[in-house]
Amino acid sequence: MEIVVSGIRPTGNLHLGNYFGAVKNFLRLQEEYKCFFFIADWHSLTTHPHPGDVTANVRKILAEYLACGIDPEKAAIYVQSDVKETLELYLYLNMNAYLGELQRVTSFKEKARKQPENVNAGLLTYPTLMAADIIIHKADKVPVGKDQEQNMEMARKFARRFNMMYGVDFFPEPQSYSFGGDAVKVPGLDGSGKMGKSEGNAIYLIDDAATIRKKVMKAVTDSGPTEPNAEKPEPIENLFKMLKIVSSPDTYDYFNEKYNSCEIRYGDLKKQLAEDIVNFTTPIRERILDFSANTEYMDRVARQGAEQARASADKTIREVRKIIGFH
Ligand code: ADP
Ligand code: TRP
Repeated sequence: MEIVVSGIRPTGNLHLGNYFGAVKNFLRLQEEYKCFFFIADWHSLTTHPHPGDVTANVRKILAEYLACGIDPEKAAIYVQSDVKETLELYLYLNMNAYLGELQRVTSFKEKARKQPENVNAGLLTYPTLMAADIIIHKADKVPVGKDQEQNMEMARKFARRFNMMYGVDFFPEPQSYSFGGDAVKVPGLDGSGKMGKSEGNAIYLIDDAATIRKKVMKAVTDSGPTEPNAEKPEPIENLFKMLKIVSSPDTYDYFNEKYNSCEIRYGDLKKQLAEDIVNFTTPIRERILDFSANTEYMDRVARQGAEQARASADKTIREVRKIIGFH
């Protein structure tokens, strides 16, 4: 059976970008494949060297994963740092990862720019740790958003290189995966770019209705189209992208026609969008609160997930040692 791996860093709450870019795919995949979903607490140290209470941050994301519908009976849900075998593979991969290629990774360059006082080796080797997370389970598919494409290319490169260097056909090349083909990019509503924690424009699954309404009503718009069927400038295009993601096709068509005939009232569009987001997130939010109150259950889930992940990782790392020459 094909194997699926994906992870999310516990550096904040899950937002709509995480949900529609990654978690939504997890839900379908867990029905069909052997899935490993983890919380990337080691990775979070690359940007948050003093994470505070890691356990609390991890529980927060775990409650959100479960509330979204990730099912511990179907998928292994675990915490990255519970599977030490990953570190050994990370070391081996680092021995065959080159400074130049790591320095060229866009997200490294971006993060280095954002935190010039802390351009650490973990940040540089972020893609090797991510590759280790994935290939430690010999994964075939990795559900991640568009922004992870370069990291995925690196993971494939490291898997291929290992096979080449040791003359084996051991690691499959992991493919990015999204239902319906193209990975979605959930836009920010602040005029340009994507929704993200560090972009400061995220709408979180845990946000209450009033917060969501406020965030959506603040979305950047313009003075409206002046000729029929005009092309949409980015801020407006982003609002429509969001409608496409959370609202019904009828709602989308309604506002699109209004736009094309220059009768659009952005206030109405935003009100509708806010209600559609609230309707989508409210049941999830309620489940997050329920799970958060049940730490005993969550700890049991994480323990079981770790056992499954360790069994899979141990099998791989034993073979890797042999292939490299540790007999
Ligand atoms: P953030 O950018 O908010 O820090 P992460 O980098 O932790 O989010 O992303 C976790 C997962 O969510 C990744 O698979 C990533 O591709 C996906 N993701 C994050 N933001 C978006 C977005 N705006 N659109 C689509 N997918 C996204
Ligand atoms: N880099 C991913 C992100 O920022 C998180 C991550 C770490 C990951 N290891 C992974 C995702 C392995 C998929 C597979 O979103």
